[in-house]
Amino acid sequence: MIAAAGTGERLGAGGPKAFVELAGRPMLEWSLDAFRGASSIDEIVIAAPPDDQERAAEQGVVAAAGGAHRSESVANALALCGGEIIVVHDAARPLVTAGLIDAVVQELAADQDVAGVIAATPVTDTVKQASDGREVERTLDRSGLWAVQTPQAFRADALRDALADPDSLPDASDDAMLVERRGGRVLIHSTSPDNIKVTTPFDLRVAELLLRERK
Ligand code: CTP
Ligand code: MG
Repeated sequence: MIAAAGTGERLGAGGPKAFVELAGRPMLEWSLDAFRGASSIDEIVIAAPPDDQERAAEQGVVAAAGGAHRSESVANALALCGGEIIVVHDAARPLVTAGLIDAVVQELAADQDVAGVIAATPVTDTVKQASDGREVERTLDRSGLWAVQTPQAFRADALRDALADPDSLPDASDDAMLVERRGGRVLIHSTSPDNIKVTTPFDLRVAELLLRERK
């Protein structure tokens, strides 16, 4: 499942982020290529902005209507997903590869006691907490910290259970967090920091360079 229903406010491109041109094609198509190339994927469902559902469906995938928050978009798309394992991915991470998708699925499939396997990269910056935006309260121990990405693979029943309570959805920054809250075991799959999230115009430039280099 690809979450592609955001408006891309911080990118400020004047249209939904998933359809912004990136290295010669709409951003969403890079993720679609990776999913189509992944041998573990049987079916693709996209959560698209309500006005762009038709455009998404032209890609030959199932299109669901997005919600007000990311997790609501995921919940809407989940209702249209079959299968025992579901991989959730953000269209905002166009550098995802088929290999990374297959890797998180394989690790999840290998252990029945695990509810989710998520791509992440070790934090390399020193991280401090300053709740008022100025005065440092503490420095976190970086050694155990991970910057989490998508793809995230889940057992379908664990993901459905995690997303069942609509009140918990608005403040969830990723799906794994909701699975963790329900007591599900989630494992990290350590991956490359290249799999960046396109949030700002700077990120779009970096993604463009990385994708052109790949071509
Ligand atoms: N997303 C979604 N439905 C929403 C909000 C976000 O499917 N209601 C998706 C986005 O399309 C994106 C991913 O969730 O692929 C991560 O969200 P983010 O990077 O925050 O994208 P936007 O919400 O579009 O950007 P912004 O927050 O700057 O508006
Ligand atoms: Mg957002």
